[in-house]
Amino acid sequence: MKFFIIVLSVFGLHAQENIQNISSPDAAIRVNFSLDEEGRPFYLVFHKDQTVIDTSFLGFDLKDAPSLSTNFEIINSGTSSLKETWKMPWGEQLEVENNYNELKIDLAEKSGLKRKLSVTFRVFNDGIGFKYDFPEQENLKEVIITDENTEFALTGDHTAFWTPGDWDIYEHLINTSRVSKINAITKRGDPNLGQHTYIPENAVNTPVTMKADNGLHLSFHEAKLIDYADMTLKVDTISLKLTSELVGSEITGYKVKRTAPFETPWRTILITEKATELIDSKLVLNLNDPNKLGDVSWFKPTKYTGIWWEMHLGKSTWDMSGEQDMTTFTKASKPHGKHGATTENAKNLIDFSAANGIGAMLVEGWNTGWEHWIGFEDREGVFDFVTPYADYDLDEVVKYGKSKGVAIVMHHETSAAPRTYEQQLDSAYALMQKYDMHVVKSGYVGKIIPKGEYHHGQWMVNHYNNVAIRAADYEVAVNAHEPIKATGLRRTYPNIISREGLRGQEFNAWASDGGNPPEHLPLVAFTRMLAGPIDFTPGIFDIKFDKYKPENQVNTTLAHQLALYVVIYSPIQMVPDLPENYIGQPAFQFIRDVVTDWKQTKVLNGEVGDFVTIAREDRNSDNWFLGSITDENARELEINLDFLPEGNFKAIIYQDGENAHWDDNPTHIDIKEQVVANSDKLKLKLAAGGGAAVSFEKLAE
Ligand code: NOJ
Ligand code: CA
Repeated sequence: MKFFIIVLSVFGLHAQENIQNISSPDAAIRVNFSLDEEGRPFYLVFHKDQTVIDTSFLGFDLKDAPSLSTNFEIINSGTSSLKETWKMPWGEQLEVENNYNELKIDLAEKSGLKRKLSVTFRVFNDGIGFKYDFPEQENLKEVIITDENTEFALTGDHTAFWTPGDWDIYEHLINTSRVSKINAITKRGDPNLGQHTYIPENAVNTPVTMKADNGLHLSFHEAKLIDYADMTLKVDTISLKLTSELVGSEITGYKVKRTAPFETPWRTILITEKATELIDSKLVLNLNDPNKLGDVSWFKPTKYTGIWWEMHLGKSTWDMSGEQDMTTFTKASKPHGKHGATTENAKNLIDFSAANGIGAMLVEGWNTGWEHWIGFEDREGVFDFVTPYADYDLDEVVKYGKSKGVAIVMHHETSAAPRTYEQQLDSAYALMQKYDMHVVKSGYVGKIIPKGEYHHGQWMVNHYNNVAIRAADYEVAVNAHEPIKATGLRRTYPNIISREGLRGQEFNAWASDGGNPPEHLPLVAFTRMLAGPIDFTPGIFDIKFDKYKPENQVNTTLAHQLALYVVIYSPIQMVPDLPENYIGQPAFQFIRDVVTDWKQTKVLNGEVGDFVTIAREDRNSDNWFLGSITDENARELEINLDFLPEGNFKAIIYQDGENAHWDDNPTHIDIKEQVVANSDKLKLKLAAGGGAAVSFEKLAE
């Protein structure tokens, strides 16, 4: 017995010497890094006295070369720290604190090729990030990664809020289950995603958020995804270990190809006690480089209307003529009468936008090619991004908009033919520049051409990033749909303003599964929203739209729709419903008043998938706005107004009516006005699937 204890302590001492340690500035989070007897690198993460990530190995499988996984020794290591504050040119807050301790470990193989690899950890008060560096070296020049094997060994069967690790689309419902019950494979073949979805493994997409039984929250994601493949996380439901599974390509057969020196994206884990602190976190942004574009004041955060929802409702169409054979389609083709993007329709919507202080308007279906869109294999060369349909006078619409102070948002549906788009980028953006248009909404519906590439593989990651960088040359900001996920690149390239990358509002118009359930946005706020701004298109007032789609509906109350303008962050927020559904509605006043650029944000309460309340301060005035949403459960929330500064505010409270219910009575709303101060408390009554929205207007002293 004695002998055993001695051996143990000697071993303990020995291992101790090799353990590299780094803690968060507040010392609550710690990372250990070490090598096992075979020279395999591994790490552990602790929060206070608890292990949150157990022994997790790191390594890579390479093509035509031995794996980089064992036989390492530490040749150098060092620590550093940073505490800085930087400013967002637009955003959910003006100032961001970036405060971490860093540990960099340089590894080299002890024998054989003696290849080198470095690992850098940054530990923040709300989580960690780590990345790999492949330094320049003799025996590893071109690096072809067939698998990245980064492990995250969970220490409990947490409740996970997850979407499947789809290589082609993020527009899945968010599932809630224990990690041991995650079964992404059952999400294959979703008829609503028929055009492109590919789930090869039992893996989840990131951000994936989890709650441990002791209340600790974790969210796994990545930061600074540049020239690399999207990371999904393969789930071992027995050992509860997650392992990175990079999106691949059937054309190349590998995951990533790079030339050393290069760095991988950061692998990130948010670790917070409260759910609300997940939303507060700026860790992912902080792991990206500072602004490389300089002044982007040509982009103005704004609300925008659009010739858009009417197409999703089936009231009008994107295409003009129905002439599907593009060889016979000519500019002279006859309009079939249901085309949405006509000059007249656009001018009417400009009038509506101007009358309600909405600064911009999107026009989809303005350019030729839509006849040959969904369902066609041969989409290369079909869309062009400079030729308007015969019944749409781009020149006249832009000029009319200008005269009324309404900017036109450009639309580029690439139909997932990125090469066609790349060939036309310069002419497309030059046209925008000529018209002083500064925002483009792009789209990538369909299987990627060439077949075998996926939306989330390295090739497409480069496409999305390069398009945004090129757009910046023309002072164009990008809002991509069917995008690559957000990983904080908006810090470096603040013309990457928003994106889709989730089941948006449009699913309510046509999904065969009943649309987004009431819990959708209370889930989104703690999962997808942790990655970055979302073009969700809130604000549908005609909740049931029986006139167009009796089988479909929005599954929230009207007050919930209003609250989304505050809860879901984006510097551009759509006002999507048909104008006739807003005109004369008292609740529309909230949309008129709400802004899209913020000085600060306070997440007041929330639980993942249940409810959340957020207050934000207007960047350009002393006014505040609050949004609160709940899932299918009605609840009462007491809101302490101590986030307000001194002074009186006129509060307009938009609340679910007494009998409101997302299905039975979604549009019943109570609107009341009262004067409040920061010593007051507000009682908010949220109906099932409901919400509340409040505007606080600062009153003169
Ligand atoms: C899918 C987008 O999400 C949607 O907003 C758009 O209307 C269509 N593609 C057409 O581009
Ligand atoms: Ca979409």
